[in-house]
Amino acid sequence: MNEPAPPVCDYEGSDYRLRFWQGQGRDYEDRVERIALRRLMPPTGTMLIEIGAGFGRLADEYRGYERVVLFDYSRSLLREAQAHLRNDPRFLYVAGNWYQMPFVPGLFETIVQVRTLHHAADVPALFRQLARIARPGGQYILEFANKQNLKAILRYWLRRQAWSPFTLEPVEFVPLNFDFHPRWIRQQLRLARFTPERALTVSHFRFAPLKRVVPTPWLTAVDSAAQLTGNWWQLTPSVFVRSAHPLPGATAVAPAFFACPSCQTPLSTGPINGRFFCPNPACKKQWAVQDGLYDFKEAIVD
Ligand SMILES: C[S@@+](CC[C@H](N)C(=O)[O-])C[C@H]1O[C@@H](n2cnc3c(N)ncnc32)[C@H](O)[C@@H]1O
Repeated sequence: MNEPAPPVCDYEGSDYRLRFWQGQGRDYEDRVERIALRRLMPPTGTMLIEIGAGFGRLADEYRGYERVVLFDYSRSLLREAQAHLRNDPRFLYVAGNWYQMPFVPGLFETIVQVRTLHHAADVPALFRQLARIARPGGQYILEFANKQNLKAILRYWLRRQAWSPFTLEPVEFVPLNFDFHPRWIRQQLRLARFTPERALTVSHFRFAPLKRVVPTPWLTAVDSAAQLTGNWWQLTPSVFVRSAHPLPGATAVAPAFFACPSCQTPLSTGPINGRFFCPNPACKKQWAVQDGLYDFKEAIVD
């Protein structure tokens, strides 16, 4: 019997950008995340994918790449990204579920994932998918929410929080929102054959009263320096880790690009009449392409 699919946190139609970022006092978080990303991500390359790219907040960090896939479960957030990037031809907008990635093996030299792992109910399954589409020799830059952060430790010691920040298992603090232990994340990366290399601790000063009184550039500068301690200890709410892709592994050969998310059979190089047709006779699913959005979220014909 097939395993039930892991649940997905659905942002379809959400006002995430307005509710969470725009004018919401998170300039500090945005800036320090970009600093960490620049430190870990190769600045140039051929093929990058951002997993859970949302409305494309970080898209301008990928200027040095020839091809950039913004991948997300939410079509509406991808449409926002598309509107804001004004159809820059280097960007491709792909809707789908990270447990069923619609790409051929060994395609992406750089994989980036920021502020999304906390929605993953099945991290091992997600990492297996990423290992499959990772090109050998490339890198995976992952940001995750750290359960062993200073605030959680203090709350635990003061008995204001039941769960221990020191145990390895993920904690689901509200439905479909998880915090992870850094050691557990490294274990899961290794199990998927990634090799974790460098870690940075980020958002040391994610504390509203402090952010109100200390100018953002100052907090950012101190955070930027403190990030460098990330290989020794991780007590911040956010941790970035760079891993080398699995070796050995398949390398995709152009023009192979999309694969059926359902059975993983490679698809034709381009859509025919706005559709991709899975050539596997046992599958035969069809997938839509509409106004520049490659939609692998649901098949149009089963
Ligand atoms: C908190 S937002 C972060 C967006 C972006 N990374 C950023 O930092 O601005 C989380 C994103 O993960 C996406 N997401 C959640 N579950 C997903 C899944 N199973 N497959 C693909 N994307 C998913 C959501 O649609 C949402 O856009």
